[in-house]
Amino acid sequence: MGKCSSCGEWDSLELQAQTQSTSTPNAAANFAATVGQFGDAAQAIKILEIDAPKIGRMSTGIQELDRVLGGGLVQGSVVLVGGDPGIGKSTLMMQAAIGAAREGNRVLYATSEESAYQCKLRAERLLEVEEVGENGLDSLFVLADTDLARITTQVMELRPQFLVVDSIQMVYRSDIESAPGSVSQIRRCCLELVYLARHLQMPIMIVGHVTKDGQLAGPRLLEHLVDVVLNFEGDRHYALRGLRGAKNRFGTTLEIGLFEMGQNGLQEVVDATAFLDPDAPPRAGAVVCPAMHGSRSLLIEVQALVTQGTIGQARRRASGLDGNRFTMLTAVLEQHAGLKLADQDIYVSTVGGLKLTEPAVDLALCLAMIGAYNNEVLRKGVCAIGEVGLGGELRTVPQIEQRVAQARRRGYSKILVPITQVEVAGQNAVGVASIADLWDLFEKIKYSSAPETRLSDGEKEGRIKCA
Ligand code: TYD
Ligand code: MG
Repeated sequence: MGKCSSCGEWDSLELQAQTQSTSTPNAAANFAATVGQFGDAAQAIKILEIDAPKIGRMSTGIQELDRVLGGGLVQGSVVLVGGDPGIGKSTLMMQAAIGAAREGNRVLYATSEESAYQCKLRAERLLEVEEVGENGLDSLFVLADTDLARITTQVMELRPQFLVVDSIQMVYRSDIESAPGSVSQIRRCCLELVYLARHLQMPIMIVGHVTKDGQLAGPRLLEHLVDVVLNFEGDRHYALRGLRGAKNRFGTTLEIGLFEMGQNGLQEVVDATAFLDPDAPPRAGAVVCPAMHGSRSLLIEVQALVTQGTIGQARRRASGLDGNRFTMLTAVLEQHAGLKLADQDIYVSTVGGLKLTEPAVDLALCLAMIGAYNNEVLRKGVCAIGEVGLGGELRTVPQIEQRVAQARRRGYSKILVPITQVEVAGQNAVGVASIADLWDLFEKIKYSSAPETRLSDGEKEGRIKCA
């Protein structure tokens, strides 16, 4: 046709080849033929008769990563690591590859995004700090290729014990006509990698990009194909990165690995007080909460600032905390603690860019807001844990023993906990029944009135002139 039957334009038609869909019988047969080389015909057997050896796990040499994986990489499993561009996925993969190689495994790092030279530069940067030189890296191989068939051939030749593919969006199969990164390419490449992992009993870590808008190029469509899905997240403005399990066939998804991006790659955050500044002077509106991150307790500071605003237009901003819960707590404080907040702008945040969305932070947040409202400082050694209900009552929180133990170990002598858990919490715990109690309690735990931080007009003028 010379003329489009829909819009009436002449010469607007273009010839396009139809993309082969993997759902057609032909493509399915094709696929079976490709993957057939890896698998033997299976037989149905009784579950009791299946000889299941204890699953072997391989350490990546990165404790935080191993913990999130549930104790290391399982033989023959496929792990998908997703995250925004620039968050540090390639860095983490290279560190894992180096770690596994150091443990004595043959490792292949297949990169489709960078050249082998760039990989080497990155590895050098990562190794600088450890000053180990080339020791233990004899068994780390790099392959810069985008064709999955060629990568597979290399794998069959090299027989690595651990394979990294960075990234799934950039590898392609030449027999599929759609472009790399398209749904059919990604799915097909991922499936082949899964078969490869099973056949060679070799763990594979695959990097996938997450796009904000379209899920098309995102690894979402791969989640059911792989065994483990890890999300690498963090705020661009902070060095802190969290590795969170979204799916794990071999472990819990409650674990969170914490890293800090530095000059020499990702450093593991293991110290519970890593986010506290030991030299910080006591401030109004700052309260420490022993929060749980996976199976670990970290001491995190919550801060609040309450300033004069305009009635009807009072601002409420939360950073690193759950915005809805925060608004709810301001209402609870108005109703049950007698705070007049209608014309007050309130800002709350966590220190260090860490996200803290568990309800156990409620009590610390309420104390921070009361402190900021009254301009009063808590004594050193006070911290708070507890969920606050709409009636102002304190509700129990999970893993209280662990939280209190961590706080106690770090020298906290007054740990405010829900009254129902005061016995479980043990030594140094102070029970709080409701938000209304905080007024009395505050008299006992406050340090002193903070120095006046709001400047008078005269003082302001003086400072501006000085400046
Ligand atoms: P990269 O791992 O390439 O991210 P991704 O693969 O997720 O796109 O690293 C991203 C950023 O990390 C990069 O902008 C620079 C920074 N970076 C450091 O700060 N220190 C380091 O040692 C390395 C290797 C990277
Ligand atoms: Mg990368």
